[in-house]
Amino acid sequence: MGVFDVLLITLLCAFAPLPSETLNVRGHLLKSKTFLSPAFTLHPGSVSNKFFYDIDFPRGHLALKSFDTEVVDENGVPVPLHETYLHHWLVEPYLVAKNSGAADAHGLPKRIRKRNAGVCKNTLGQYQGLGSETRHTATWVPDPYGIEIGNPSEGYEEKWFFNVHAIDTRGVTDKLGCTECRCDLYNVTVDEYGRAIRKNYTGGLFCCYDQTQCKMREGFSGELRKLFLRYTVTWLDWSDAVVPVKIYIFDVTDRSLSDGKPEHACKVEYQVRECSSENRAKNDCVDVMETKQVLPRGGDIVFAVAHQHSGGIGASLHGQDGRLLCTSMATYGKGREAGNEAGYIVGMSTCYPKPGTVKVSDGEVLTVVSNYSSERQHTGVMGLFYILVAEHQEQQQQQLAANKPGLCFSFPVSWCLPAWAAWLSSNL
Ligand SMILES: *[C@@H]1O[C@H](CO)[C@@H](O)[C@H](O)[C@H]1NC(C)=O
Ligand SMILES: *[C@@H]1O[C@H](CO)[C@@H](O)[C@H](O)[C@H]1NC(C)=O
Ligand SMILES: *[C@@H]1O[C@H](CO)[C@@H](O)[C@H](O)[C@H]1NC(C)=O
Repeated sequence: MGVFDVLLITLLCAFAPLPSETLNVRGHLLKSKTFLSPAFTLHPGSVSNKFFYDIDFPRGHLALKSFDTEVVDENGVPVPLHETYLHHWLVEPYLVAKNSGAADAHGLPKRIRKRNAGVCKNTLGQYQGLGSETRHTATWVPDPYGIEIGNPSEGYEEKWFFNVHAIDTRGVTDKLGCTECRCDLYNVTVDEYGRAIRKNYTGGLFCCYDQTQCKMREGFSGELRKLFLRYTVTWLDWSDAVVPVKIYIFDVTDRSLSDGKPEHACKVEYQVRECSSENRAKNDCVDVMETKQVLPRGGDIVFAVAHQHSGGIGASLHGQDGRLLCTSMATYGKGREAGNEAGYIVGMSTCYPKPGTVKVSDGEVLTVVSNYSSERQHTGVMGLFYILVAEHQEQQQQQLAANKPGLCFSFPVSWCLPAWAAWLSSNL
């Protein structure tokens, strides 16, 4: 073992307790690197919602294995959620044409988004993303799977963007209300784009956009803070030993299937009403939100996790016949320190089914269930399910045949049959 390997393994152990067999996919060494996002500044009560383009990211044709992150200050010290609430972060790749001068409205090079495999149309295109639960939620893609990134495409360069939405709740009158983006606390009447906010919209992202200010306690003063997202990426060089997975994100607010609408309508956020007195008397203050969405292509589910906000209890994902595919439960902190903040979701449990044991089929109708406590009302909550699906060999081959010019082999050396020969060989 070289010095580099020892160093690498030591580093990995310092970040996350990975089981030792995860260090290799059939002899391919796992690599890991920690980066800092550009700085964002917050003063007490303020909101920062930033998009950082072309962030530091490993380059090359790779298998993404995990993406772990947390908010730190200028000294690299983790900041607790009761000071800076991490509403969400998300990362997504995009393509930039190498030699074209094409620019967008802001004079930046034209970007082509590389969204995940579905299923929401205009929202939730990210490859990875979490919120307050980020410190204790596994993002590890189990072996032998990997998220394929950086596959070179002629004339394009792959870059990544980060979206970080954070709320500074030092000195505010109502910490939970500020993190739930309650419109009355932000004193806003128009959204980020100057559009009037509907009267019945009581809270959510339309009321806590970049540079908005939540209601402060009289006389509180606190310094401006420079913060960063520290993120650790682990990856492998892409090889035939890695089995690609597709990313799907399901949103419990998408009612398109039940409403018989062709277009997905992922609203991302919803409201939880305080439970009625009858339900309170029965000790039944749970808000259950449920929706059905179609999985375009099936395979094996190899990883799944839900995303919820404060008040969330847990979420589950079911197959068309009702069978349970995954349950992801919320864990709350119990103390003051970063990673254990009382009243906040500090982790979501994850599902790592034994490969091949949780199968879903092409076009299967999945059900997402998201439970919240309705002891009190909640605004701007979410119920998302993120899953990784490994398609079956035949499906992958069909797709390869459809996408590639010819039939390709990787053994004993990499070579491809031209398209006409591949067509002939499959039709003889
Ligand atoms: C709320 O906003 C209005 C104008 O948009 C302003 O006149 C008023 O003083 C604000 N209230 C508070 C409590 O900041
Ligand atoms: C607000 O009212 C509109 C139109 O009446 C309705 O479509 C929408 O669902 C309502 N929103 C909430 C949060 O109740
Ligand atoms: C959600 O709540 C329903 C009704 O109380 C319950 O049957 C179900 O097990 C809950 N699911 C989760 C994931 O908490």
